[in-house]
Amino acid sequence: MTTSRLAARDVRMVFGGVVALDRVSIEVRPGRVTGLIGRNGSGKSTLFNCLTGFLKPTSGTIELDGRDITGHAPHDVVRAGIARTFQTPRVDFRTTGRAAVVCGLYPSVKHGFVASLLGLPHARRAERHVQQRADEVVERMKMQAWAASKVSQLSMGRVRTVEVARAIAADARYVLLDEPAAGIGRDELRVLAGEIRALADRGIGVLLVEHNFSLIRMLCDEVTVVDTGSVIFKGTPDEARREERVMSLYLGSAAAGEA
Ligand SMILES: Nc1ncnc2c1ncn2[C@@H]1O[C@H](COP(=O)(O)OP(=O)(O)OP(=O)(O)O)[C@@H](O)[C@H]1O
Ligand SMILES: [Mg+2]
Repeated sequence: MTTSRLAARDVRMVFGGVVALDRVSIEVRPGRVTGLIGRNGSGKSTLFNCLTGFLKPTSGTIELDGRDITGHAPHDVVRAGIARTFQTPRVDFRTTGRAAVVCGLYPSVKHGFVASLLGLPHARRAERHVQQRADEVVERMKMQAWAASKVSQLSMGRVRTVEVARAIAADARYVLLDEPAAGIGRDELRVLAGEIRALADRGIGVLLVEHNFSLIRMLCDEVTVVDTGSVIFKGTPDEARREERVMSLYLGSAAAGEA
């Protein structure tokens, strides 16, 4: 029997002479929010890229529910049930917020392109399902008032909301969020925080990169702290807060006052 989890094992990632990750292991488990924290340049986004197929680790493995998926292409990783957002949002700025959410739904639609061209009944059913599900996600993320606007006309906070909505729409079993709260307003943050917790409550495994420690405390069941490419701490947010090594990383940063 294999336990469900998305895991990095002993992952090392070297760029030229730079060791971005040095034997990093982490587990993302269903129904739990795992925080990934660390200073700028400590390797958090690099780990996301390794977990989602955007980078192939120099060594070490990525496992999905006990299966080795190291080096699988990003589109295969999405199809296997892992959705992500990017630190710099990657949303098509020419489409609308709702259209971006619809895009997120397609990996989970089980009908082929040809069937859809021929207008077969099951393709039409799938299309109805997509539209219904998009409406649900738009409503859940409180996007109704502006979902029809072009992404290029939205504030950074809304663009991030669209990206998270697209990831949620994908019906993934694991959702990886790289600084989803950066640059977003207080109301959007409240909706986002509620949705992140709700994902875990529905049994989805969440990995969250976030600099704001109070948000980490509010949302995470456990945290992994990385510094210059190495894991320096694993435990609960409260344990992390009592750990001087961890808190010293926050000193001098904007998050220090919030810890
Ligand atoms: N494609 C790349 N080529 C070369 N070096 C890279 C590449 N990607 C990341 N790095 C280096 O790897 C290290 C880790 O970067 P990474 O972006 O993973 O950090 P991070 O923890 O996400 O930082 P931040 O909090 O600023 O987002 C840094 O030294 C960075 O310069
Ligand atoms: Mg980063």
